Amino acid sequence: MEITGSIQEVREKVKEWKKQGLSVGLVPTMGYLHEGHKSLIVRAAAENDKVVVSDFVNPIQFGVNEDLSTYPRDIELDKKLCIDAGADLIFHPEPKEMYAEDFSTYVEAQNVSAELCGKKRPGHFRGVCTVVCKLFHIVTPERAYFGQKDAQQLAVIRRMVRDLNMDIQIVGCPIIREEDGLAKSSRNTYLNEKERKAALVLSRAIFHGEEMMKNGERSAEVILTAMQNMIEAEPLAKIDYVEMTDADSIEPLKEAKGRVLVAIAVYIGKTRLIDNFILDMQEAGLQ
Ligand code: PAF
Repeated sequence: MEITGSIQEVREKVKEWKKQGLSVGLVPTMGYLHEGHKSLIVRAAAENDKVVVSDFVNPIQFGVNEDLSTYPRDIELDKKLCIDAGADLIFHPEPKEMYAEDFSTYVEAQNVSAELCGKKRPGHFRGVCTVVCKLFHIVTPERAYFGQKDAQQLAVIRRMVRDLNMDIQIVGCPIIREEDGLAKSSRNTYLNEKERKAALVLSRAIFHGEEMMKNGERSAEVILTAMQNMIEAEPLAKIDYVEMTDADSIEPLKEAKGRVLVAIAVYIGKTRLIDNFILDMQEAGLQ
């Protein structure tokens, strides 16, 4: 496996592969890789001849009061995980390689970014779309892999790809959880022992909401209130949002129908964590 910080070197490598008729999968990440990322890389390696992992903490998707400077980084750990998972190339650029000093072109998927994290983190998805669009141009993959843990991000990227006619297949992959249920996230490392225990309230609320829907409850108000009550019973938790939307358009729903996303963002101490479930009502025989 190779590693480079140079756009030019990625381009040359990919050109060489494509000349040999090899397919390329891209796994965009911000590094500090865990089992969730590993599952994306393993899947990409199974479905493509070559796999590029981008490892870049993208400054333009962080708000002014967010954790850009403290976001965990460990390239040695990332290299090991990438080798284990079957990646061929890590693209690990410096911010100045990605953004010229007078950088001024952005990509924005509007409506689908309006709710949930888009509402709470203005400019976040503009930063995500812009960097992902750049990575697509640099790597020119046939397929790109994203986790369902960031369900709105996945919907936003699918929309960008559709709207801008990008010839790339977007592959969504399931949430990977710790044994006790906590969704894997690089930000889990911020949690102290007490907070780590308290953070289990997210997955408990998610499993409870999903169970309610599977048992026939349709009302967003009833489901979300039950989930909110559960989260509020945890003293270290502070709700940012608990919402039900359509999983593709991210438009709020009053009743569960179609492909439903129930998404939550909760502060545990100072750490903001997200979790969700998606239920296709028709596929689940509920509609
Ligand atoms: O999900 C992430 O880690 C990031 O938002 C992404 C897609 C790599 C863009 O920086």
